[in-house]
Amino acid sequence: MQFKLNPKNPSSTGLRVIPVFENQVSDILTEKNLQKTIPSPLFSGKKDSQFSFEIEGQLVLLIGLGENPDYKTVENSLRRVLSKQSSLIEKEVLLDFPAEMDESHVEAALVGFKLGAYSIGFYKKEKPKDHSKLKVEIITSLKKAKDLAARAGKIADAKIEAFKLVDLPPNKITPENLGDWAKNLGKKFELNVKVWDSKKAKSEKLEAFLAVGRGSAKDPRFIIIEYRHPKASKHVGLVGKGVTFDTGGLNIKTQGMHHMKSDMGGAAAVLATTQLVADLGLHLNLTSIVPAVENAIDKDAYLPSEVIGSHAGLSIEVIDTDAEGRLILADGLSYLIKNYAPDQVIDLATLTGSAIGTFGYECAALFTNDGTISYGLQSAGEEIGEKSWPLPLWESFGKEMDSEIADIKNYHGKPFAGAITAAKFLQAFTHEHPAWAHLDIAGVAFSDTEFAKTKTGTAYGVGLLLRYFESIL
Ligand code: BES
Ligand code: MN
Ligand code: ZN
Repeated sequence: MQFKLNPKNPSSTGLRVIPVFENQVSDILTEKNLQKTIPSPLFSGKKDSQFSFEIEGQLVLLIGLGENPDYKTVENSLRRVLSKQSSLIEKEVLLDFPAEMDESHVEAALVGFKLGAYSIGFYKKEKPKDHSKLKVEIITSLKKAKDLAARAGKIADAKIEAFKLVDLPPNKITPENLGDWAKNLGKKFELNVKVWDSKKAKSEKLEAFLAVGRGSAKDPRFIIIEYRHPKASKHVGLVGKGVTFDTGGLNIKTQGMHHMKSDMGGAAAVLATTQLVADLGLHLNLTSIVPAVENAIDKDAYLPSEVIGSHAGLSIEVIDTDAEGRLILADGLSYLIKNYAPDQVIDLATLTGSAIGTFGYECAALFTNDGTISYGLQSAGEEIGEKSWPLPLWESFGKEMDSEIADIKNYHGKPFAGAITAAKFLQAFTHEHPAWAHLDIAGVAFSDTEFAKTKTGTAYGVGLLLRYFESIL
């Protein structure tokens, strides 16, 4: 898909798409020199509404955005065009933005339009429509429109990468494959990338990470990506849970196991965000870590009641092999903080069913010991439509994770506060870092949406982290 800005002779045959705000339909039509009156009961620009008509041989599609649309509303409204109405589009399309739309609206619209080309029918005989050659002409009065379009294209590309990493099946997205993905990213943007196999991980004492991977025929990978910018004044560390499939291990899952290809949603968010930060050249230093494993079962699988080691030096009693995410994150966090000492550390993980029990599919559960990060992540998320809400890290919850035989246990075995006790477990491996945040994204990484009949990846975290990073630069 190519974006072309303010062409001298805009297409007169391709579909002309005009997003409109509620109750501004006639103003915008006048602005666009379209002498057409639409009775407001037919179309008044309400959110999620559309109206099409033909004028001088050209099909015009009006997209209602509502009165004060947020970023996601605009993104989704434009995503519908290619995703659901691609029959209206052949070789070219005209996106005709009204002067009322500000930079953020136009960015969201362009991101959404490009996302519309994404489809999950990867393995179908009948291939989804290919929009890679589509000419997209853009009309806007915004000043830095060219930069804006380039930026929106990069954001959409990163989100599509995140979609794919989650949506592709676990025989395609393996730990090794995630490692290759990171190496390719490193080549493309000249980043320093390390991808360790189980042998190297052993020499680095990543023992909790290795215990989880022991029952799988697929060798785990510990992935580290360093992005450095000469003008950076801050160093952020990211860790993403990369369980490429979670059977539960010997505590095997009895429900919804087929959804567990999405258990690397945190890794997808971290990898795609790293791509985006490099692609946009943000003035930031970023170190991203993805511990990638499959939680499977065979004769070598780790056992409930085993005591395992960890990078931080704490011994861990394994109560439940299905509480595996926190084990690999423990080593990821500990390694990151010990070796890189970033100013801030954020981890993202599809960590607990309990986070879904608490917040449903509405927002991520946010845990942090730093009020500024808490506020920053919450407001960035509200602005961009990737919300999170805080839960406490009180020490009484930490006590629940005390073990008789080891320094800590991986599950308290009780039917309450599952997301909080998991967060307290993670905190024990942060070497008391004063600015750490954990986002439990179990409910928001993989969802039912209007764009597919099955649950699909949402790229939760990519928009959020970009907005957050730009707020702290
Ligand atoms: N990957 C799951 C959490 C999950 C559940 C993510 C549903 C997305 C949707 C995680 O590894 C897990 O199994 N958590 C257990 C922990 C329990 C055994 C302590 C859970 O939440 O039930
Ligand atoms: Mn699990
Ligand atoms: Zn899991």
